[in-house]
Amino acid sequence: MINVRLEHVYSTISQDDIASNLQSLKRCHTLLERGEGKGSEFTGWLTLHRRMRSDLHALKTTAKRLADQSDVVLVIGIGGSYLGAKAALEALRPYFSRKGPEIIFVGHHLSGEYMEDLRDYLEDKSFSINVISKSGTTTEPAVAFRTFKTLLEKRYGTKEAAKRIVATTDKEKGALRALSDAKGYETFEVPDDVGGRYSVLSAVGLLPLAIAGIDVDAMLQGAEEAAKRYKEQSMQNPVYQYVLARHALYEKGKKIEMFIHYEPKLHYLAEWWKQLFGESEGKGGKGLFVANAGFTTDLHSLGQYIQDGERHLFETVVNIQKPTREHEVDIDEDDLDGLNYLSGRTFADINQKAMEATLLAHEDGGAPNIVIDVEKLDAYAMGHLFYFYELSCALSGYLLGVNPFDQPGVEAYKKNMFALLERPGFEKLGNRLKERIKKKTR
Ligand code: PA5
Repeated sequence: MINVRLEHVYSTISQDDIASNLQSLKRCHTLLERGEGKGSEFTGWLTLHRRMRSDLHALKTTAKRLADQSDVVLVIGIGGSYLGAKAALEALRPYFSRKGPEIIFVGHHLSGEYMEDLRDYLEDKSFSINVISKSGTTTEPAVAFRTFKTLLEKRYGTKEAAKRIVATTDKEKGALRALSDAKGYETFEVPDDVGGRYSVLSAVGLLPLAIAGIDVDAMLQGAEEAAKRYKEQSMQNPVYQYVLARHALYEKGKKIEMFIHYEPKLHYLAEWWKQLFGESEGKGGKGLFVANAGFTTDLHSLGQYIQDGERHLFETVVNIQKPTREHEVDIDEDDLDGLNYLSGRTFADINQKAMEATLLAHEDGGAPNIVIDVEKLDAYAMGHLFYFYELSCALSGYLLGVNPFDQPGVEAYKKNMFALLERPGFEKLGNRLKERIKKKTR
């Protein structure tokens, strides 16, 4: 299913460099499995796939109801309450002409323009809402929900609107839980022991995916197989190969990891990965800076820098081996564009050659590459990949000596934002910040 290849890293690190942290990684793995590491109260994702498989009936029934009654389903959430579903939806559906209700994500930024455009777009469409927030208090989804809840209530009346809203949130705490209980919305729980960015295989990701007709059973099976396969504590484990190689590269001064793909459908998987690793590892002055690029598109923008700019990065290429569909280059009798040497060859073949060429060129330029081969892109593989990355991320965090399950740094901007927006309780900080802003703009 997944194979990690390291032949393009040896110009920068040796096998010994990679293996030098093997014993430490084994200890980290044992700590994680025993629930004795940092943040161990948030390691429920290790077995989430099993828990969810036995409990999918209600989720599927609700998904069908929302799909049947809506032209559009709004999925409202941010960060871990947004990116997993978005990643799987983009990866698993055709680029165009998608079946089922249209899924529109909102609440993942603060663009008023987007809100207004979306309101206009919904004017002649039936719609429902799945609002997702583990804490139930995050500003971006909360303000978006207020807008579309109001619209729904105006359109259908309070009672019918309540039937068109499903909330995914904490079982007890938070404003969204209180609101849902008061209004009688159907709810799904975000498990206590699973943090936002590790929650894609809970109702957080699975409900929007089921609404869109994605085979969520297959996703959970893929995760289950991954959980079994990546238990092994050895260099043969692909998770170990990935974690140890990226750690060795980091220790050699490669401070940036770029997630590279050759299939535009994977853009949001890269975004999900970026959040997972960025929020999990980047703390205490440590951690790889994670970035992403889609090739060959970005070879025509970032390619120059990767080849020849400052030598502080490496790439991890996700290589989908069997494309879902093939497209061949036509024969042209005139051959005025000189492309007949490619006639009859598939885009997949040309893309593959572009990848092989780039791997060698970047390695020669001092940008090493880890390659992750994925047999094909389907729901099973997505579930498998999600688990592969979650486990890799948790182990990488432990190896680095940080808690991969908290995100204290995210609070800094939130506090300042609340203070500047004059939220009650933030008056003192607000005055201090306003003073600072005044000084800076003087
Ligand atoms: O990984 C995380 O914990 C965060 O990215 C959250 O998912 C994000 O901040 C959204 O939080 P919530 O679901 O509480 O609205």
